[in-house]
Amino acid sequence: MKQYQILVIGGDGIGNEVTAWGKRVLEEIGSLYEHPFAFDTALLGHAAIEATGSPLPEETLRKAHGSDAILFGAIGHPKYDNDPSLKVRPEQGLLGLRKALGLYTNIRPIKLFDELLNASSIKPEILKGADILFFRELTGDVYFGEKARKDEGKTAYDVMIYSKYEVERIAHKAFQAARRRRKIVHSVDKANVLESSRLWRETVNEVAMQYPDVELHHQFIDSAAMLLIKNPRMFDVILTGNLFGDILTDEASQIAGSMGMLASASIGDSTGFYEPIHGSAPDIAGKGIANPLASILSVALLLEYSFGMKKEAESVVEAVEKTLKEGYRTIDIADNNTPKEKILGTKAMGEQVI
Ligand code: NAI
Ligand code: MG
Repeated sequence: MKQYQILVIGGDGIGNEVTAWGKRVLEEIGSLYEHPFAFDTALLGHAAIEATGSPLPEETLRKAHGSDAILFGAIGHPKYDNDPSLKVRPEQGLLGLRKALGLYTNIRPIKLFDELLNASSIKPEILKGADILFFRELTGDVYFGEKARKDEGKTAYDVMIYSKYEVERIAHKAFQAARRRRKIVHSVDKANVLESSRLWRETVNEVAMQYPDVELHHQFIDSAAMLLIKNPRMFDVILTGNLFGDILTDEASQIAGSMGMLASASIGDSTGFYEPIHGSAPDIAGKGIANPLASILSVALLLEYSFGMKKEAESVVEAVEKTLKEGYRTIDIADNNTPKEKILGTKAMGEQVI
């Protein structure tokens, strides 16, 4: 039987606190379903700078390359936020690692648990049942095209660039995921004005021919942004480029209510990288009150996307659902109707899910 190598990188602040519970859930899944998971740990960010002087130590890089999947927490420390002139910085560790691993697809589920309908600022009747899976491309677009200034600095440009190959590989991932869901893909672009979007659209149409059982719709970014909050339930899988995806996923996070509930996966050709979308939250670090559910839901993504363990992934999501149904909340997702005894800290919440 294949032994799965899982690298756990807690990072800084609540990153460490919540990742400990993601790891505990993985151990539990390993023993329940008899999967041989082997764990190792590594440093990143501020913790790594303190210990080695580098935000991305050689050892971390080596272990990352040797792993089948990485469970990450968050990096960041107020020291750097308050002093932008510091040259060696925690985020260099995270950006450097993502780049070294060649991660090209970011997957972000936006699922609103019924129990948290009131935690969002959008009306419950619009949100109820919303369940969207984003595929955002990570290596192309204006972020990586040529950028420069001219006219003595008074004009600037960023080139929006995509290759067919880049669009193809993420499109396949999105269609494959749609097959395991409601079988609908919305591809988001701006093909009425942008040439790179026209190539995007042509390529997605070509890939779609291999998935005749999946319904494909094209949506312009402006109308997609509107429809996302007007009628989020119409979407199943959303496939989009780096810039449009950056904006849409932040917009969509409001559907889920709290930062403490959202997980993400970044996939490359070798190892996968799984993390909550939140940061190291220095305002609550060390208090034992951070919500571990985003890390635990990251574990569900890891099981599904790196190991193809759909049943195991579902059982993790169901455990989270059941815990919420039983009324348990961390402070960030509690409301005025939550009884005091149901408001749990990180540890009690993690134990409840397990
Ligand atoms: P943040 O996500 O750490 O916190 C934003 C707010 O949400 C805070 O009030 C925090 O208490 C709350 N929050 C976040 N996660 C929570 C959880 N699991 N449970 C309960 N409450 C939660 O973002 P912020 O404050 O902008 O950044 C803090 C540090 O994290 C900075 O150093 C920043 O650079 C870093 N950061 C790191 C990221 C990463 O490692 N991927 C992503 C975003 C920020
Ligand atoms: Mg963003």
